[in-house]
Amino acid sequence: MDLKQYIKQCCVEVDAALDRFLPPETELPASLHSAMRYSVFAGGKRIRPVLMLAACEAVGGNSETVMPAACAMEMIHTYSLIHDDLPAMDDDDFRRGRPTNHKVYGEAVAILAGDALLTEAFVLLSNPAFQKADAGRTMAVIQEIARCAGSHGMVGGQVVDMESEGKAEIDLATVQYIHTHKTGALIKAAVKSGAILGGATETQLAALTTYGEAIGLAFQIADDILDIEGTTEEIGKDAGSDQARGKATYPAVMGLADSKRRAAELVEMALNALDSFDAKAEPLREIARYIIARKS
Ligand code: IPE
Ligand code: IPE
Ligand code: MG
Ligand code: MG
Ligand code: MG
Repeated sequence: MDLKQYIKQCCVEVDAALDRFLPPETELPASLHSAMRYSVFAGGKRIRPVLMLAACEAVGGNSETVMPAACAMEMIHTYSLIHDDLPAMDDDDFRRGRPTNHKVYGEAVAILAGDALLTEAFVLLSNPAFQKADAGRTMAVIQEIARCAGSHGMVGGQVVDMESEGKAEIDLATVQYIHTHKTGALIKAAVKSGAILGGATETQLAALTTYGEAIGLAFQIADDILDIEGTTEEIGKDAGSDQARGKATYPAVMGLADSKRRAAELVEMALNALDSFDAKAEPLREIARYIIARKS
């Protein structure tokens, strides 16, 4: 299969759905809706929605069932990026190839645009008009996404990331905690949600959870590596930001070569978890390989 084409096709569908779900820029308060759209449509890779669609497909589900949840996931991810870039956090100037949200709209609107994206994501997730799966599965997905985004998930990881900044001795357990929470949790939630909405069996869900956890951690290790090896132009965000802030990263703890080895091992683990799946899981297999091969 052609992964590039697959991702492109998913992105077209996800972008069209996001455009329908997000309020128009002209709707009051215009500054808020404009700021929300600015970051959502700045050209992200859409890897979480793509994973959700691919996981649904792997268990034989219909992609239409997951589109609202896929968009909600991208809205939550985009909120996390807007807040991550704020002066009080990573204080970065570029994101998705453009000035960061607060550079354009100011800090107050950037904070509120993040808040609104997070909240509107749950409006979308819980809107009966969009739900094609049964209520039990929908509820399970809302619970999964909420838990992975909250204090035991992404936000929890972000806090430990902040608290570990500039510390001389960071151990592997801490950096693993940071990465599995700040990034791994939402990626795992994307995979699990796609599987649940697609009608996965318990066995399939367990295998896909292992897959999601492994690629989630690999994704953030790759992000750390790209921060060192990529240019600002390539990655569309400030390169070298981690070292400048003394961030707890895999390369800082174990060096570049071992970080690359670890990421490759995790991708192998993810692929092994898919052993019992047929050709419908090919997109998931290709995405796992792409996660460590990507240049942006
Ligand atoms: C960047 O995520 C932040 C992390 C959690 C590593 P992505 O690399 O998916 O960023 P976009 O969505 O493509 O901009
Ligand atoms: C971000 O980790 C994780 C989030 C929850 C946004 P990073 O701080 O490494 O992400 P980038 O490199 O700024 O995208
Ligand atoms: Mg950060
Ligand atoms: Mg950052
Ligand atoms: Mg990073």
